[in-house]
Amino acid sequence: MEQTFIMVKPDGVQRNLIGEIVQRFEKKGYTLKAAKLMDVSNALAEEHYGEHKDKPFFGELVGFITSAPVFAMVWEGENVIKTARSMMGSTNPAEAQPGTIRGDYGVEVAKNVIHGSDSPESAEREIGLFFNESDILSYKKDINSWV
Ligand code: GTP
Ligand code: MG
Repeated sequence: MEQTFIMVKPDGVQRNLIGEIVQRFEKKGYTLKAAKLMDVSNALAEEHYGEHKDKPFFGELVGFITSAPVFAMVWEGENVIKTARSMMGSTNPAEAQPGTIRGDYGVEVAKNVIHGSDSPESAEREIGLFFNESDILSYKKDINSWV
């Protein structure tokens, strides 16, 4: 079954949005496989956002993600990578539709509340960066046959 890496960014943690965001993924019918509140090191931030290293905002991005704890998660379910991205909304909260996480809670692009993997390759890479294999549980929920 498909898995994706979702992270409540420092602004989302500070604004008490962990529960709200977890609830949206739970209610959608996805299964939480791993989660932790953690500080992101400089090295991990630079690796995670490596694709943006030549962008003018890279320093600000790394500085922000390392500034306070994040809530890192692995979610599993059918088509979860793409669906999670649509639940998150556009990168720039000003363009994100109401009803999406960024549309409902985000204010500016630098503080857009949540990260989600953008492809199967990114998901595998990012899950591997943030979690050990033994952190990812392999339980099943009985309700899964209904969603
Ligand atoms: P992530 O899920 O966080 O990867 O967002 P995304 O995939 O929707 O966007 P992208 O990977 O293109 O950009 C990564 C992150 O960089 C975004 O989520 C923004 O927080 C940040 N970012 C993008 N553009 C800008 C910008 O112009 N200025 C600043 N400060 N940050 C930006
Ligand atoms: Mg991205």
